[in-house]
Amino acid sequence: MPPSALSLAFEVEMAMAHEPVLREELLEILDPAPTSQVLDCTFGAGGHAKAVAARLGPRGSFTACDRDPIARGYFEEFSRTASVPAEFLAGNFADVLHELGRQRRRFTHIYLDLGLSSMQVDTEERGFSYSYDAPLDMRMEPDLELTAADILNTWDEARLAWVFREYGEERYARRIARSVIRRRERNPYSRTAELVDTVKEAIPTPARFGSRNPARRVFQALRIAVNDELESLRRALPEAATLLRPGGVLAVISFHSLEDRIVKEFFAAQAHPCTCPPDFPVCVCGKEATLEIITPKAVMPGTRELEANPRSSSARMRAARKR
Ligand SMILES: C[S@@+](CC[C@H](N)C(=O)[O-])C[C@H]1O[C@@H](n2cnc3c(N)ncnc32)[C@H](O)[C@@H]1O
Repeated sequence: MPPSALSLAFEVEMAMAHEPVLREELLEILDPAPTSQVLDCTFGAGGHAKAVAARLGPRGSFTACDRDPIARGYFEEFSRTASVPAEFLAGNFADVLHELGRQRRRFTHIYLDLGLSSMQVDTEERGFSYSYDAPLDMRMEPDLELTAADILNTWDEARLAWVFREYGEERYARRIARSVIRRRERNPYSRTAELVDTVKEAIPTPARFGSRNPARRVFQALRIAVNDELESLRRALPEAATLLRPGGVLAVISFHSLEDRIVKEFFAAQAHPCTCPPDFPVCVCGKEATLEIITPKAVMPGTRELEANPRSSSARMRAARKR
């Protein structure tokens, strides 16, 4: 295939790959200038990156990060056409941000678009989807220690029930955890279809016939546990705030109420850090605000985006400016 056809094929694949959520809203909040120094912590297929980088010039910079090796191919294609110097840093954003802090790097804009890309969900053998029968893996990074099967085969009932309830908001968490333990004594888990069957058997009959797959909450819960997603976010936010230049913007798009709560509470704590008792006439703790919240309420997708991209339905964006 000639190079132009190759790159056209890649463009088509990218167009189908992942529809960036809240793209226009993110761009409006970041409002980068040609000389901005931007850090995209969750590059994915580079959909947001392309929109942001189109505003940057040769005196700006674009740093991309992703823990999934699949993102690197998309980054290489992106950097071939970008008009801004660009680099890719592989790894968990919590570690990458920490390392950038150690190097005393600074950025004017940092954003995170959490969760999974469509390429991850739709690649059968990754095991993220209940729609295919595949190995129960779910690791975003191949060198993570535990797969979803390892968790199902080794964690005790109480811990499994907690994960299903907390991370999946699964109503039948305890029943499902009990069924997992019973099944694995005979037959350890290795395939996604085995888990889907367990969930269907464990829940009451009417719950099996809803409009969506009854295993979806358990799959989400396991994915969050395998990739330690909430802890990564908790570690990343203070590092990101430190890396921002004064006046710089930090934006986070989340897809889970627990993620959104972590972001909201972090921003609130940085914007109102005083720990003095409310009846103190003046502040004596001396803690000063480091961020100013610029989205008093979370920004959500509009009707047009919801219709065009149902995967955006749980998206929430919050942003803050460094003081
Ligand atoms: C929703 S997708 C991002 C899509 C991207 N904004 C785009 O427009 O194509 C989320 C991406 O973040 C990556 N990711 C999730 N958690 C991560 C973490 N802790 N560290 C680094 N990358 C992470 C995933 O591998 C995935 O590629």
